[in-house]
Amino acid sequence: MPVVTNVEDLRQIARKRVAKAVFDYVDRGSYDEATLRANRADLDALQFRQRVAIDVDQRSTRSTMAGQDVAMPVAIAPVGLTGLNWADGEMLGARAAEKFGIPFTLSTMSICSIEDVAGAVAKPFWFQLYVMRDRGFSASLIERAKAAKCSALMLTLDLQIQGQRHMDLKNGLTVPPRLTLGTMFDVMAKPGWVLNVLSGRRKSFGNLEGRIPDAKSLTTLGQWIAGQFDPTLSWKDIEWVRNLWGGKLILKGILDAEDANIAAATGVDAIVVSNHGGRQLDGTVSSIRALPEVVRAVGGRTEVWFDSGICSGQDVLRALALGARGTMIGKAFAYGLGAMGEAGVTKVLEIMHKELDVTMALCGLRDVKDASPAILRGG
Ligand code: GLV
Repeated sequence: MPVVTNVEDLRQIARKRVAKAVFDYVDRGSYDEATLRANRADLDALQFRQRVAIDVDQRSTRSTMAGQDVAMPVAIAPVGLTGLNWADGEMLGARAAEKFGIPFTLSTMSICSIEDVAGAVAKPFWFQLYVMRDRGFSASLIERAKAAKCSALMLTLDLQIQGQRHMDLKNGLTVPPRLTLGTMFDVMAKPGWVLNVLSGRRKSFGNLEGRIPDAKSLTTLGQWIAGQFDPTLSWKDIEWVRNLWGGKLILKGILDAEDANIAAATGVDAIVVSNHGGRQLDGTVSSIRALPEVVRAVGGRTEVWFDSGICSGQDVLRALALGARGTMIGKAFAYGLGAMGEAGVTKVLEIMHKELDVTMALCGLRDVKDASPAILRGG
């Protein structure tokens, strides 16, 4: 086993261990992947100011996100199909996050159910909602999240219609996974993954099984989403969700100042600047480039968080410098899980925390809450 020093090492281990269809689902973006690449390139282009002879002995990465104390301003983003990277992956991810002291968000499209995860942790986690055509079912998901004592609801706004991910089609991604001639050689070379996933308590969408037609039968993910997600979703539906939920509400998938302005006016607890990790509108702006416009438009009315492209603690600090109060990791989390299960998630968090801490020190910053454009060159 190579010495794991960064998230890319875990990505490589996951690539070798996890079935290609599942790994590619995590790893790749939509269409030509121009936005996926821009997310990375635009983060890389932001340069820190190296500062010296500043006492940085006592440092703190502690902060809050939507009023919740966090060991570092990083939350685990909702990732569909998490439990196909590693058996019971959502329960393991939630446990790793709880031990580390950061929030975990469970996806509607998870393999473990809300109740499974509630049984695996002592502290509340967050639940991410996709609004389905069947509003009664959407309402029941909200009720289940309440019953499980989830401490925030995250409503995703940028995926009522799914952007095409070419690899999912080429790989024939289905839920539950299906063995075909095309996938056989890959899967035969990964017996560890097969045995592990077979040992998991579920192989299909845990929140939907038995409640939505087809949730248990073989279907391609794209077809399923097209049939169930509600493309009519509008701001008045967001009010409906808000009233039903009654707790902390976070809106994810804002990339435009005009939308940010409307979102802030609704009085939600946070908005997440995101292009869904380059998995939705290909050809749109990188998330990090959109961040300052959104922060300006919001003008402090709500917290602004950053998602899409974070692979390191340096990336976390870049986003904080440009005005994000918190950040979210999706791919990085799934690589850690796919590589080593719960230990891999913990490893990702440890790596990012150390990178964040050291980068702060080399920028002359003691408290993560003081990150500002002043730590960036030209900022
Ligand atoms: C769903 O959230 C996806 O990105 O596939």
